[in-house]
Amino acid sequence: MNVLVTGGAGYIGSHTVRLLTAEGHTVVVLDSMEFGHRAALIDAELVVGDIADRPLVTELCTRHQIEQVVHFAAYKNVGESMQRPEKYWLNNVTGTVHLVEAVLAAGVRNLVFSSSCSVYGTPASVPVDESAALHPESVYAESKAITERLLHWYGETAGLRSVSLRYFNAAGASADGRIGEDWSQSLNLVPLVMKAALGRAGAIKVFGNDYPTPDGTCIRDYIHVDDLATAHLAALTYLAGGGDTTALNLGTGVGSSVLEVIAATERIGGLPVPVEITPRRIGDPVSTYADPTLAHEVLGWTATRDLDDIITSAWQWHAANLDGYAS
Ligand code: WQD
Repeated sequence: MNVLVTGGAGYIGSHTVRLLTAEGHTVVVLDSMEFGHRAALIDAELVVGDIADRPLVTELCTRHQIEQVVHFAAYKNVGESMQRPEKYWLNNVTGTVHLVEAVLAAGVRNLVFSSSCSVYGTPASVPVDESAALHPESVYAESKAITERLLHWYGETAGLRSVSLRYFNAAGASADGRIGEDWSQSLNLVPLVMKAALGRAGAIKVFGNDYPTPDGTCIRDYIHVDDLATAHLAALTYLAGGGDTTALNLGTGVGSSVLEVIAATERIGGLPVPVEITPRRIGDPVSTYADPTLAHEVLGWTATRDLDDIITSAWQWHAANLDGYAS
């Protein structure tokens, strides 16, 4: 297949691009390079440009005979989205409208969308499945929920078929250590724990240890980035086979606490992780992890990597690339 991947030079995008090309697909990456890394791209053509540039997108799709699109490109900083909502509405929502109009103009009708477990907000019960109500608790999360609805309506009005993949907490790096997450840009737990362990930052701040969980810290579903990549390939195959529009959770179904992530890092990395317990972070759900049953039923996909695989691969990547891609 010929696949256009927006945001393909980013963290999850680059792992997905690598898998698609390894499986024999032809990939064209469209990335603004505001946060992307050229070094993260292996065997794929890069076009630097904006998803909202309709003539560019339509021309790219036509010239490369694009059959399917994977849409990662978006801003993803929850805190910033509350300070600068317009930036998120314009890029994540309006940008997607332009992108979809442009690919439709080129005859493309299949799209896989990078959504987020944050569309559920704090779930009423865990594990959370796709029948749970959507309660976005940030502009970022709402931008994902709105985009899912947009895609639904493009299905009704223009015959677009789409799969929205609701990622839980993406983490880890490629098994061969060639690509990973650039920690200079990340505010997520796993890269921050690595930074603390490898002496590139002070203590990791644990946001609260008085939650009603076994060790008092919050519980999340950490999912390996290469498992996410596999799910994107499965979603493209599903759409190519005529599958209907749907939204699916991508998680392992296993919750891990903040202290469990830190303990795994100390065990695997062999270095102590300096820890500072701080007050709770506003807006953090106590516990959220996926019921990934539907993704298995619809795509035949199941995560195959666990927390140790995540920490092992992340450790290998960060220890060898202490300055991220600048290394
Ligand atoms: C994980 C856990 C923190 C940093 C984010 C997005 C969400 C979705 C998944 C994309 C929490 C704790 C963190 C630190 C800590 N992504 N923590 N100290 O908030 O679960 O979800 O990724 O769509 O939309 O918001 O991820 O990595 O920030 O936090 O104690 O310095 O680690 O409290 O329990 P989060 P995270």
